[in-house]
Amino acid sequence: MDKASELKKLEQEIAADNTLPLREANLVFGEGNPESETVFIGEAPGKNEDEQKRPFVGRAGQLLRQCIRDINWKEEDVYITNIVKRRPPENRDPLPNEIESYKPYLTRQLAIIKPKIIVALGRFSMNYFLPDAKISRDHGKIFRFNDFLLYPIYHPAAALRSTQMKEEFEKNFKELPQILEKAGNLLAERGTETRKEEKPTQKKLF
Ligand code: URA
Repeated sequence: MDKASELKKLEQEIAADNTLPLREANLVFGEGNPESETVFIGEAPGKNEDEQKRPFVGRAGQLLRQCIRDINWKEEDVYITNIVKRRPPENRDPLPNEIESYKPYLTRQLAIIKPKIIVALGRFSMNYFLPDAKISRDHGKIFRFNDFLLYPIYHPAAALRSTQMKEEFEKNFKELPQILEKAGNLLAERGTETRKEEKPTQKKLF
């Protein structure tokens, strides 16, 4: 089965899973190119995303999508999703049990796509992979996991609230093409390989 069909099947599985929390909201599974080497992961859908059943289509999404175009990538060439696939009421932060409940599905979604780079948008997404990291300290750093590089950056909604964060967000974003160019070699490096039980290593590329 190709990646697109596998993702379709996974989406149908989530839709049918009555044990998941937030079932009163629409499912926002994710979209983009299943063959993409880069996956952007946000926190959870907001109001616009819930209405359109698409990730990052509100104001924060417009900024994210503009930044993707600004580095001469196409929105439809990357893949965009969230850790939690349904909108928490009143846009509150996702609860730990909500993140846990959707985790097996995100894990499988990533196993199908097999990206080289995961761009974690904001602290929830970053802490999903690196529980002890701090977004103010660790944004713009590159962390090597077994099969992918994790690149945490500020959430675009945070960038919309502060000029300084917007500058950081845009600066980090501009590094993406170079990181992707080097990702293949970095992931193929022997000797520095992290094992599953070890902490991911932080890589300095520049
Ligand atoms: N914020 C997110 O984290 N995800 C979306 O899809 C939209 C806004």
